[in-house]
Amino acid sequence: MELDSENLPRHVAIIMDGNGRWAQARGLPRLAGHRAGAEAVRAAIKTCRRLGIPYLTLYAFSQENWGRPKAEVDGLMRLLRRYVRSEIEELHRHGVRINIIGALEHLPADTVRLLQEAMARTAANEDLTLSIALSYGGRPEIIRACRLLARDCLDGRIEPEAIDEAAFGGFLYTAGLPDPDLLIRTGGEHRVSNFLLWQIAYAEIYISDVFWPDFGEDHLQEAVRNYQRRQRRFGLTGEQIVQGRAGETKSR
Ligand code: FPP
Repeated sequence: MELDSENLPRHVAIIMDGNGRWAQARGLPRLAGHRAGAEAVRAAIKTCRRLGIPYLTLYAFSQENWGRPKAEVDGLMRLLRRYVRSEIEELHRHGVRINIIGALEHLPADTVRLLQEAMARTAANEDLTLSIALSYGGRPEIIRACRLLARDCLDGRIEPEAIDEAAFGGFLYTAGLPDPDLLIRTGGEHRVSNFLLWQIAYAEIYISDVFWPDFGEDHLQEAVRNYQRRQRRFGLTGEQIVQGRAGETKSR
C-alpha cells in the first residue's frame, strides 16, 4: 500500500528505545548503540522531510536517564554536542527548525549554549520542526506549567476560571506545537515512560520490536502506513466520523 499524502500524521513523536540492547547483541559498549542511534535520527529526519511530515519530536534523554552511570551520561552529552555541531548546517540548509524541550537547566552549560545557538540559528525555518526532548519528564513539565500558571494567577495576569486546555498547553515546553498524532516506541516495550503525557491524549500508538539503531526509513514508513489504516474517532461514533464531525472536537 502506498502512503496517502492527504492523511499523513502532522506530528510524529518517537521514544527511541533499544540502543543498549542493540549494542549488547553485538558485544559492543552501550555508547556504540547510542552512536548508531544518532545515525537512525538522521534517517528519521530525512524520512519526515521526504514525506512532508512537519513536526518530529524525539525522546533523546529523559529525566530518569540522569541516574545512568556517569560514563554513559557524559558519553550521551558528548554525542549530542557532536551531533549538533556536525549536523546543524545541513539541517539549516534543509529548512529544519531545532527546538529543544525539557529541563535545560540541568544540562552542562556548554551544551546549553550550543543548543541555544542551534535554536536561534534555525528559528525561522519552516519545513520541519525537530523537537529534541532532553532532561525531559512529562510530570515535571506539568508541574512546571502549574507553577507558572499559579504565579500568573497570583500576579493577576489570569483568572483561575479562564484556565482551559489551550491556556494550560501554552505553559508546556511544547507550546505552539500541535499534539502528536502518532507516537512510536521502538525496542518492543509497551510503556509511555513519562513522555509527553499531556500531549499524547489522542495520539495513535505504534510499538515496534525493532531496536532504535535499526529503525530505518522503511520502518518509519510502515508505522505511518499502519497509522493510515486506523480510524481516529476522538471519542465519537463511527457514523459521526463519516458525517465529518470529528474535526469539531478535534479543534481542541
Ligand atoms: C534508549 O536506549 C535511548 C537513549 C536513552 C538515548 C537516545 C539517544 C540517541 C538516539 C542518540 C543521540 C540523540 C540525538 C538526538 C543525536 P536504551 O539505552 O535505553 O536501550 P536499552 O533499553 O536497550 O538499554
